[in-house]
Amino acid sequence: MSERKTFYVTTPIYYPSDNLHIGHAYCSVATDTMARFKKQEGYDVYFVTGTDEHGQKIERKAKDRGVTPQQYVDTIVAGIKSLWQLMDVAYDDFIRTTDQRHVDCVQQIFRKLYEQADIYKGYYEGWYCTPCESFFTELQLKDGCCPDCGRPVEKTREEAYFFKLGKYQDWLIDYIETHPEFIQPASRKNEMLNNFLRPGLNDLCVSRTSIKWGIPVDFDPEHTVYVWLDALTNYISVLGYGTAHDEPYRRYWPADIHLVGKEIIRFHTIIWPIILHALGEPLPRQVFGHGWLVLDGMKMSKSLGNVVDPVALCNRYGSDAIRYFLMREMPFGSDGQFSYEALLKRINADLANDLGNLVSRTVAMVEKYFDGRVPQPGRYDELDKALIALAEATPAKVRAQMNELQYSTALSDIWALIGECNRYIDATAPWVLCRTEEGRERLKTVLYVLCESIRFVGVLIQPTMPRTPGRIFEQLGLTDETRMTMDSLSAFGLLPAGIAVHKGEAIFPRIDIVKELADILPTPKAEAKPEPAPKVAPEAGAGKAAAAAPKTEAPAGDGLITIDEFARVQLRVARVLACEKLEGSDKLLKLRLSLGADAPERTVVSGIARFYTPQEMLNRQVVLVANLKPAKLRGVLSEGMILCASDKADTVLKLVSVAPGMEDGATVR
Ligand code: ME8
Repeated sequence: MSERKTFYVTTPIYYPSDNLHIGHAYCSVATDTMARFKKQEGYDVYFVTGTDEHGQKIERKAKDRGVTPQQYVDTIVAGIKSLWQLMDVAYDDFIRTTDQRHVDCVQQIFRKLYEQADIYKGYYEGWYCTPCESFFTELQLKDGCCPDCGRPVEKTREEAYFFKLGKYQDWLIDYIETHPEFIQPASRKNEMLNNFLRPGLNDLCVSRTSIKWGIPVDFDPEHTVYVWLDALTNYISVLGYGTAHDEPYRRYWPADIHLVGKEIIRFHTIIWPIILHALGEPLPRQVFGHGWLVLDGMKMSKSLGNVVDPVALCNRYGSDAIRYFLMREMPFGSDGQFSYEALLKRINADLANDLGNLVSRTVAMVEKYFDGRVPQPGRYDELDKALIALAEATPAKVRAQMNELQYSTALSDIWALIGECNRYIDATAPWVLCRTEEGRERLKTVLYVLCESIRFVGVLIQPTMPRTPGRIFEQLGLTDETRMTMDSLSAFGLLPAGIAVHKGEAIFPRIDIVKELADILPTPKAEAKPEPAPKVAPEAGAGKAAAAAPKTEAPAGDGLITIDEFARVQLRVARVLACEKLEGSDKLLKLRLSLGADAPERTVVSGIARFYTPQEMLNRQVVLVANLKPAKLRGVLSEGMILCASDKADTVLKLVSVAPGMEDGATVR
């Protein structure tokens, strides 16, 4: 008996966070969809995800909360697992970098690399970006800040271990050039070669003595292992690498695909292959760098405060609808805009109209015309044959797209079949056929072709939308699981005639988009209050008449804005958590602001240093323009603006504030 082929696929391991956002879910849903697709294809699939729990960032967060780092991460991991459960992200193993199995593996690898002189001891002097957990040389900094995120970096000098990356540079260049499938999409391959590898690799600092929350180097426990060396190792520690229980490693390694966001492809295609090669282990077959989910032109990110909560979305629209949207809306590899409007339009157009209506119309017709039993088809005519040919061709098209990780195109191929089914109903006009005996004979074939095409659709959408096929098959009355597999799509006509359909609820109810947007968005048009009487120039007439004028009639160039325009400015009450003078400036203060417990903190740079001391600002409530495009001021990313009043000469300046008793994060309007 031949062994089933294996397929090992991974997500990055996530930094523990109270609220992972929909951008994080994007990566996990894509990986889960791939795992399900490969299972459908008959592979022995192993799908791994987990959490990346060490490093200074976690150490600091735990300290802020007055708990130990271990306590901090323990509370968060449960939430992450329940998010994956909610979104049907069905991993086979979940690795935490605090698991003993992982700690042992990292220590063993570090020791081996040291013993074979790939790691040596020296001094580290350079710059460290805490949010990115990355080291940079002076030359790599951009305007004195982290070249990846633009935030300030810290100078460090300490005894450290180094990994001889440079030694493997030529080998890696050659490997990447001779394995074009290794880095995908191809544009990222050129970026790695031209921006990092060809200019030359410095040896990498792989230990710290100043960070306590990490895996100790077992032969020199003052040192903890650099978080990326720690984190990357998860892909093999989870398989039991280097232990007596390494069957999973022997079975599944090398990974078929590491799916990662584009900003971390560098770690996965430079550091990771060099570690593996130095260990004498094979490399993953492919690292795919996907794009970002973007909101208002910025990467959705907790630190920028522009995040969308996947739990709320799934609870409101169902996880299948969200998964479908994520996989359909943007080509994998490119960035894509998230908007509620786009989501709701997709739900209505693709799910409620195209798919939902097709199922409910077809089932209703089987009930009405054939007592709820799927009829036996007669001879197929040209119209039937065209639809059947499309149904038969679709699995191969979907398979080809999925194998290239082109989720969106795979789905649009499935929706082309759905669209054809709907057009087939219009073309065959069952409501006319049912009127004559001959027509009813023909109608048997039409409805069978439709039911069978729907079975094809149900099977094909399963990897992306794991819940919906069951509901479709239930309505079709299909219970035979052998007819729900990818294999069963090799022939058209395997749906048994005579099974009893069950008309159920609409699988995707339509949404009233205007009403829905008014309900969910903080400042949508539909929520705008009736316009108050604007301040009018005397010649504009009575205030009342002016108030009744349509918004658009405000003459251009008079400086007036409509209430809708004003509503675009998000004003929030924020509390100053920390404040300091910005180095090198006597005008600027750098403030850390809280917008309430469930919103991310942010940093704002404000030109108020001549009027307020940092001590005076502490714990004060201010009014923040919260949706101002972030801008860098003296190398610090400022995420908003604090409102102040000042006299004409700018000699007096006072903060705008709200009366006591207002909660942090409250809306100002
Ligand atoms: O990077 N759109 O963890 P992480 C799409 N611990 N994907 C996004 C996104 C967005 N707006 N925001 C985040 C780490 N992601 C490391 C990985 S692996 C050895 C260590 C993606 O929690 C991001 O690109 O910051 C990454 O692939 C994943 O979420 C985890 O990000």
